[in-house]
Amino acid sequence: MTFSFPKGFWWGTATAAHQVEGNNTNSDTWLLEHVPGTIFVEPSGDAIDHYHRYHDDIALLARLGFNMYRFSIEWARIEPEEGEFSLAALDHYRRMLATCHEHGIMPMVTFHHFTSPRWLIARGGWESKITPDRFARYCERATRHLGDLIGAACTINEANIGPLIVAWGYTPPADVLHQAPWWQATAQALGTRPDQLSSFMLASSPLSTETVLMAHRCGFEAIKAASASKTFPVGITLALQDIQAVPGGETIAAQKRHQINDMFYAHVKGDDFIGVQTYSRARFGPNGLLPPEDGVELTQMGYEFWPEALETTIRDAIAKTGLPVIVTESGIGTDDDSRRREYIRRALGGVVNCLRDGLDVRGYTYWSAFDNFEWMLGYRPTFGLVAVDRKTQVRTQKPSATYLGDIARKNALDSYM
Ligand code: GCO
Repeated sequence: MTFSFPKGFWWGTATAAHQVEGNNTNSDTWLLEHVPGTIFVEPSGDAIDHYHRYHDDIALLARLGFNMYRFSIEWARIEPEEGEFSLAALDHYRRMLATCHEHGIMPMVTFHHFTSPRWLIARGGWESKITPDRFARYCERATRHLGDLIGAACTINEANIGPLIVAWGYTPPADVLHQAPWWQATAQALGTRPDQLSSFMLASSPLSTETVLMAHRCGFEAIKAASASKTFPVGITLALQDIQAVPGGETIAAQKRHQINDMFYAHVKGDDFIGVQTYSRARFGPNGLLPPEDGVELTQMGYEFWPEALETTIRDAIAKTGLPVIVTESGIGTDDDSRRREYIRRALGGVVNCLRDGLDVRGYTYWSAFDNFEWMLGYRPTFGLVAVDRKTQVRTQKPSATYLGDIARKNALDSYM
């Protein structure tokens, strides 16, 4: 059976500046990668040199059949010191946006994707009262320069990532973190105290959540004001897992749903869409998070191969926010590309089910266009539709790129059931 997607459905792929550009040396993440005892397995280095190769990269995505590209602009490049804006950096992103248009691709711009300028973190980062205002000023300045070419915008990527990774036990709670030598070395390099160091990805306190949500609101208003003459949709993106309970785990699963998802849903009123980013499910028992279920296939990330999670999170996001959904990330880290194809097929089956029920889903974005820097895990996990040889920077499309590109071109999915 073939399902035809609504006319104008966005078929995208995504990247984030720090993960692909290379040499993002003025960001907090670059510093975190280089302090002694760092938890990053390797530094990002040249990444895939997308900063210089974006033209060919975007042309390749268009050839594959995509009509949307989600990428982030880097605050640490655009505002390298507080209040000092780089026209050269802004012009760079203008050229990237123009390249998308040349190739018939709608650019979706993320204003903040995990990395921040070092000066911001030195001033208290994501627990500082000044941050929402500084973020809004950056959004305003960037929108004034780029807004006429932007197709859609995400203020903040995965606003709930800090609380999520602590709840999942991926990073230690704040008091343990503050004692870690690499954390202390980072604080020292920035001239701040370990307990005042608040880097986005690792910020999980109630104060940081408040700061992030306030920054979203202020950033949203700033983007809207600066793009008044040519508006485009603006929203936030959230990391959403299908949170399930096994018998006895209902209370804790409900708590987690509140803490990680619902708390954030409550702050998107007035936005134009909600960006859903889903990779897997998480199961809770009476004592907390459960390991992957026996017999369930794992991805390179160590979590379950569970593409069905996407349908659940789309339905939940729409039910609780009433906003249209754009799937801003869905994907799998695997070295077996046939499993990527299967993952995409089943994730899209979930999108189809939602659309058939009349739910307002506007687009599907695969993470990621290219194999890239997977944060603390370095270059080992490979999420890309396109492989990159980092010695030569040669790009090679995988069969899954052709598979998804063809679906995008036809705007239809065959054999989804
Ligand atoms: C995130 C980010 C991406 C990741 C991707 C794969 O969700 O953490 O938006 O930067 O690379 O999700 O883990």
